[in-house]
Amino acid sequence: MIKTLVIASNNHDKAAELAELLRDLPWRVCSLAEFNDLPQEPEETGQTFEENAFLKASYYAERLGLPCVADDSGLEVDALHGAPGVLSARYAGPGCSYNDNNAKLLRAMEGVQDAERTARFVCCAAFVGLDDVRHVERATVEGRIAHACRGSHGFGYDPLFIPEDHTQTFGEMPPERKHELSHRGRAFRKLRSFLETLS
Ligand code: IMP
Repeated sequence: MIKTLVIASNNHDKAAELAELLRDLPWRVCSLAEFNDLPQEPEETGQTFEENAFLKASYYAERLGLPCVADDSGLEVDALHGAPGVLSARYAGPGCSYNDNNAKLLRAMEGVQDAERTARFVCCAAFVGLDDVRHVERATVEGRIAHACRGSHGFGYDPLFIPEDHTQTFGEMPPERKHELSHRGRAFRKLRSFLETLS
């Protein structure tokens, strides 16, 4: 019997990336958009990416009665002592846009030299099943913060993030190239291997 797996993310950009990364598994993968009367989004009250990933996956698994995967991810900038970190989505304040966040990050990095512009994206990918199976994978991609936004692919901080050993930002790379290198690609490839042991 084909089992159903729900991608528990209300962030449309992320849900689309996850659907791509979970393609061709022996599960029917569906998004929250397929459900009517969805409960309100949970508040991301965790202090770590792991806590928030589990919080989202278990919240929806309980309410929908289906196994769920969720990710929590963000950008850690060394010159800013790890900020924006778990607050990456709302760095510039509640309801802010990706542009607001990028503008705030560029302002915070004004005058910071190339060697000090190191940063990483972190992703925790969590699975919560119906029989108390819980599993999380963590992955990172190292890089640095550009001096201006470049490129229109991807989402969030992609136009400002140059992965290590590359000159283009994630925003300038086609999605397949980003997936090969990215924190989310790496974490979900590991989670896929785990899911294959369950099916
Ligand atoms: P979350 O929905 O709480 O996990 O928030 C993740 C936030 O981190 C997003 O809204 C983006 O601002 C940022 N982020 C996470 N992953 C990426 C990525 O792959 N590219 C660009 N920004 C990202």
